[in-house]
Amino acid sequence: MKDIVNQIADSRTITLEQLSHLLTTDDRDTIQYLFDRAHATAQQHFGNKIFMRGLIEISNHCKNDCLYCGIRRSQKDVHRYRLTKEEILDCCEQGYALGFRTYVMQGGEDGWFTDDRMCDIVATIRQKYPDCAITLSLGERNHESYQRLFDAGANRYLLRHETADPAHYAQLHPAEMSFEHRMRCLQDLKAIGYQVGCGFMVGSPYQTVHTLLKDLQFISNLQPQMVGIGPFIPASNTPFHDRPAGSVETTLRLLSIIRLILPPVLLPATTALGTLHPRGRELGILAGANVVMPNLSPRDHRKDYSLYDNKLCTGDEAAECRVCLDRRIRTTGSELVVDRGDAPTTTCGV
Ligand code: 5AD
Ligand code: FES
Repeated sequence: MKDIVNQIADSRTITLEQLSHLLTTDDRDTIQYLFDRAHATAQQHFGNKIFMRGLIEISNHCKNDCLYCGIRRSQKDVHRYRLTKEEILDCCEQGYALGFRTYVMQGGEDGWFTDDRMCDIVATIRQKYPDCAITLSLGERNHESYQRLFDAGANRYLLRHETADPAHYAQLHPAEMSFEHRMRCLQDLKAIGYQVGCGFMVGSPYQTVHTLLKDLQFISNLQPQMVGIGPFIPASNTPFHDRPAGSVETTLRLLSIIRLILPPVLLPATTALGTLHPRGRELGILAGANVVMPNLSPRDHRKDYSLYDNKLCTGDEAAECRVCLDRRIRTTGSELVVDRGDAPTTTCGV
């Protein structure tokens, strides 16, 4: 059974049969071998280093209505906020003092953050922190917008593709959202020169081994620098509020598979994984993940950015994230590093 794992690692591809076997087997030896091989592959590329990204959730206003999301436009009980430029710069300043060298500005698709406003924020951060990477995660925009943000100093863009199967995409999103447009955004970002991150939820409603295979094939073709995956977690008052959460175990197995088919990729152990299991992020690292993204958002807004229920680090413990993660990561035998943490295949310099 270990042969399957070796074949995937050697060929850097996976077949339907192999995927289906690895996702359903309860042979612990095979699964432990999968985790160990993926962890060793991450170590070959990154040593014992786990990169830390400071996540700044700049706005929970969103014009979209994705069926799974806790801050979708139809959510009436969400207290909507957006950070001012000054608040964002404060987050960066605190983050810099804590050793962060990558800022990830994430938000819903909020029309207030026009290209002019966003470029001004990016350019200011770029000027103040020339040694830091600036990552944006602001959803779908047009080519010109992505280009202007890149020219203002952004280096990376995270846009989960959510699913590589068009019919599945339509089951997760309202009719006005387009699979083709999302795919085009990812191609545009890549062509402009961003380090790109795609990704999907594990266990989203209607997901099958067939849609997962398409996700893996899509990742192989796109060759992104980052892949963000985490379990689906139902959010109250959304159309999927009563759907079961994705499984931690399946997420770990998929993290390992992604590490084997795209060895140098940056792979976060996500907050959603940490939300479903008390040691979820540590287990993610032992399965091949090499990035963590603690929250740098102002504490009084963290609860409002609840994409799903019971999100980790939204309460009093949040100020401790940096120290807490440091301690947690040491238990896996790795260490948190203060570094931009570029993907080793890229030569992007600032
Ligand atoms: N559970 C898990 N992940 C979610 N996301 C949105 N809603 C949920 C949920 N209920 C993920 C999406 C999105 C990213 C910002 O968060 O994949 O791209
Ligand atoms: Fe936030 Fe542990 S990482 S409290």
